[in-house]
Parts: sequence; C-alpha cells; structure tokens
Amino acid sequence: MSKREFGKTSKGEAAALYTIGNTKGMTVSITDFGAAVVAIHVPGKDNVQVDVTTGYDDVAPYERETCYFGATVARNANRIANAKFDIDGVTYQLEVNDNENNLHSGSNGTSEKIWAVKEMTDSKLVFAIVSGDLEQGFPGRCDMTVTYEVTEDNGLSIHYELVSDKKTVINPTNHTYFNLNGHASGKVYGHTLWLKASHYTPVINSHAIPTGEIAPVAGTPFDFTVAKTIGQDIEKEDIQLGYGNGYDHNFAIDKESQGMEKVATVVGDDTGIQMDVYTDLPGIQLYTGNFIGGQKGKDGAEYEARGAFCLETQYFPDAVNQVNFASPVYEAGQKYDSTTIYKFSIK
Ligand code: BGC
Repeated sequence: MSKREFGKTSKGEAAALYTIGNTKGMTVSITDFGAAVVAIHVPGKDNVQVDVTTGYDDVAPYERETCYFGATVARNANRIANAKFDIDGVTYQLEVNDNENNLHSGSNGTSEKIWAVKEMTDSKLVFAIVSGDLEQGFPGRCDMTVTYEVTEDNGLSIHYELVSDKKTVINPTNHTYFNLNGHASGKVYGHTLWLKASHYTPVINSHAIPTGEIAPVAGTPFDFTVAKTIGQDIEKEDIQLGYGNGYDHNFAIDKESQGMEKVATVVGDDTGIQMDVYTDLPGIQLYTGNFIGGQKGKDGAEYEARGAFCLETQYFPDAVNQVNFASPVYEAGQKYDSTTIYKFSIK
C-alpha cells in the first residue's frame, strides 16, 4: 500500500491517492475524494501493465468535471424523475441537476466529498462517510462504507454497506469508465461485450427516464445476450440509441439467484484483456462514454467520446417512482449490503 498527495480541493482540503494491489502485479489507485478509482493497472500480454480506466492527474478536475470518473455515487445512482419521490405520504425534493430530473443524487454528493479512510492493508481500503438527515433532500442520516479490495485472482471487489436511521432510498454505484485496450486508446467499438440480460428499460426521451417497461432486447441493438462488439450497432438508426446518444441504458439482469452472479464479460480487442463483472444487484447501466469527448485526463491523455464505457451495477433508474421496478427503499436500520467485482484476465 502506498499513499501520496493528490492536490487540494477548492475549499483547501488535502486529497490523497492510495494504491493497493495483489502479489500478481495488479494495482488499483483510489483517491479519498469521492472514494474514486483513479487507475487500474492489470497485467496484460508479456506482463506489460495496462491502465484500463480513465482518470485525472489530481483532485481539481474530479471536483470540476461532471463525468464522475471512478466515483462512488450515493445515496442514489442514476436518475430520479422530476427530482422527487414519496415515502409514506411525504414528498422529498432533490436537486434538479439534469433537465427536470435528479442525476446521481445532485451536485454535492459523496462523489464530491473527502471520505475517511477507516482501514488499509496492502490489498484493501475501507472508506466511510456520513450523509446527514435531509442532506441532498434524502430522509435519514445514512452511514456509508465502501471497501475496495484487490483479490489474488485479479479482481477489484467493491463492497458497500449503508444504513440509515429513517426509511430512505439507498442505491449506490461505482462509476468507473473502462477501456481494456488502455485508458487513452480511443473508441471502445472493437471491445466485445456479453450481458446476461434479455431485457432492458427503454427511456421516454433524451432526458433518460425509463418508460417503466421491461422490454425484450431481442431484435434490437440492445441485444448483447450473444457477445458482439460495442461498435456493431451503436451507430444504427434506433430511437433509443438516439435518446442516449449511444448506449446509456439500464439492463435488467437475468438473475438466477439472490447472490453474486457473473453478469457481463468484456474483451479489449487490442490487448485481449478480459473483464468479468459479478454482482448481486438487479440492474446494470451500460454507458458508452457518449459525453466524455475532450476530457483532459492523466498522463496527458485527451479522451474521446465513446473512448470508454461504464457498467454501473444498481437498482433500475427512477426505481423509487416506478411500480414495476424492484424498490431501492430501505427501512430504518435495514442494512444495504452489496458487492460488485470487476475481474481481469487475458483471453
Ligand atoms: C449516466 C449518463 C451521464 C453520466 C455522467 C451516467 O451514469 O447514465 O447519462 O452522462 O453518468 O454523469
């Protein structure tokens, strides 16, 4: 484990960058600002390390930009329609920060704060933060911990434990962008993707709130049930792809159990680096980095639109307002406990 300075926030707080790893040569660097993943070095062919995630050189762009590179998004990931929801007859108003809706809980969430480091070992980092009652508009004080661990089988395990003292919405995610050919290697069109999802949640319009329908992917560009390249259909004439300016949609995982399952496999065409995603959550947002063009990243990189993708595990978007979707509402004292693993190998 190593730790170094990562610059200062606009409030003058010092941010730090921690690096953890395993004995197989995989390392992950994470900043306490937003508990955000900054770099993931995985062993590639001939044992050459490849950094497979977008990131910045220091904390300033993490605070300034709105791409959520690597961030821990909480309490609620993705969109909430009209930035409000009801619990037991009380309406809670959130920040309107994405058209008329709320995105990723608002502009001053956990992705914009310095988290406390509760524990660190060579391979593990435990971050914690508290969100107060009605902070960002959500009911209840919410205690959150996120544990990152680099496992000996080249996995990055992300374990969330959140609990609130009032009935509230709990739906965090991790917003890491991947490019398995290397973080600055251009569009991800040649990556092949398999998703364990025969259904997805189409959206009403470009503001990206789901219609509520859980629609079959068969016969649409959203069918990744048989692996195909991300680029194969992304530029096809399709109303849903038009709304998202590419893929920016939630897939309903074909769950076979309540526990962890493999839900996605992606392979980088240049490096042969494979990433398998495991989760216990019901949904996964495929976002093909449609709006990251022009971002100035670490090591002099300039990212291009669709130069990375996210696979964000979560409850479905706007689930708190949708009767058809599994509910992200937790009772007072009821623990949210969930794990997602991004596991790397060479194909
Ligand atoms: C959303 C995108 C958004 C991006 C960055 C993703 O989770 O689905 O629509 O542009 O986050 O905020």
